[in-house]
Amino acid sequence: MDCEADAFYRQLPKVELHAHLNGSVSVQTMEKLICRKPDLNIEPSMTAIHSGRRTLDQCFQVFKVIHQLVDSEEDILMVAKDVIKEFAADGVKYLELRSTPREETNTGLTKRRYVETVIEAIRQCKNEEVDIDVRFLVAVDRRNGTDVAMETVKLAEDMMLATDGLVVGLDLSGDPTVGHGRDLLPALERAKNSGMKLALHLSEVPSQCEESELLLNLPPHRIGHGTFLHPEVGGSQSLVDKVVKNSIPLELCLTSNVKGQTVPCYSKHHFQYWYQRGHPVVICTDDKGVFCTELSQEYQLAASTFGLAPEAMWRLSQQAIDCTFAPEGLKQQLKQTWTQLQRQALRE
Ligand code: IMP
Ligand code: ZN
Repeated sequence: MDCEADAFYRQLPKVELHAHLNGSVSVQTMEKLICRKPDLNIEPSMTAIHSGRRTLDQCFQVFKVIHQLVDSEEDILMVAKDVIKEFAADGVKYLELRSTPREETNTGLTKRRYVETVIEAIRQCKNEEVDIDVRFLVAVDRRNGTDVAMETVKLAEDMMLATDGLVVGLDLSGDPTVGHGRDLLPALERAKNSGMKLALHLSEVPSQCEESELLLNLPPHRIGHGTFLHPEVGGSQSLVDKVVKNSIPLELCLTSNVKGQTVPCYSKHHFQYWYQRGHPVVICTDDKGVFCTELSQEYQLAASTFGLAPEAMWRLSQQAIDCTFAPEGLKQQLKQTWTQLQRQALRE
């Protein structure tokens, strides 16, 4: 990559809104985890997709390997702190991390301790004056069905109250070919009624139109991917109309979609469809560890693929602030930071 462009995109202040904790673990952190657990015989090549493309199913196999490596409070604390610091080093000023609470009988980890440990990592980074604001979304894995979803929402509600607003919402993710959103509607409705924001993976694969129609009626506050919403790729005008009418921002993850083969190549990414219409879109990484990318690299790829000038990229990163689940005061602060940094960049 071009060094000058590289520096520009690293310095550009950015907002990351779609980052799964265990998919964001870097090679360096992975090495530390592998050293802690030599008996598992896990090779670094099993935890990331360096080159080439995989099926979505193969991508989900990678998460299973990573989950074996991250199974204690100690691991989660290290992983979360490393991930937060790496995003900060890449110029991310505001991060919404998401993760699926897991219990592990081997290590005595409970779902509550899981969330508390991520929150502890966020607090420690704040105390260490890492230059980034972090919030947390509790993730519901769609494969686990109605009861687990409801249990997760209750845990998220408790944590939202206990953490003074560090938990801001709920994510719906997991293998899109498994389970149906209709079974999760009661849990999602409850979350929304208790003041949580909803960021839902929607239409990540074709043939989810019916589910997307249903979930868009909530409506969610943000959409992850939304790859197959528009009619040109088998979605429908009615889906697009719902997204546009409610002005629901899309979290777009270019490399994730190309490497996971839901999009044929960068130039055919649905970024173009929504950006051209002036719809709010936010560039994100999804799983920077698994897909071997960084947010600065995703910005650079979007700019070079779609011919966007630096000013347009400044606008894109600044507009992402309004799509965050941050309280109004923090949004204003972030906007000031952007203005100051942009003035500074122009003087240089
Ligand atoms: P974790 O929730 O921190 O353990 O992060 C890994 C989990 O995030 C995976 O097991 C999936 O449930 C979810 N995930 C990561 N990437 C994707 C994606 O592209 N689509 C749907 N779910 C995903
Ligand atoms: Zn995702």
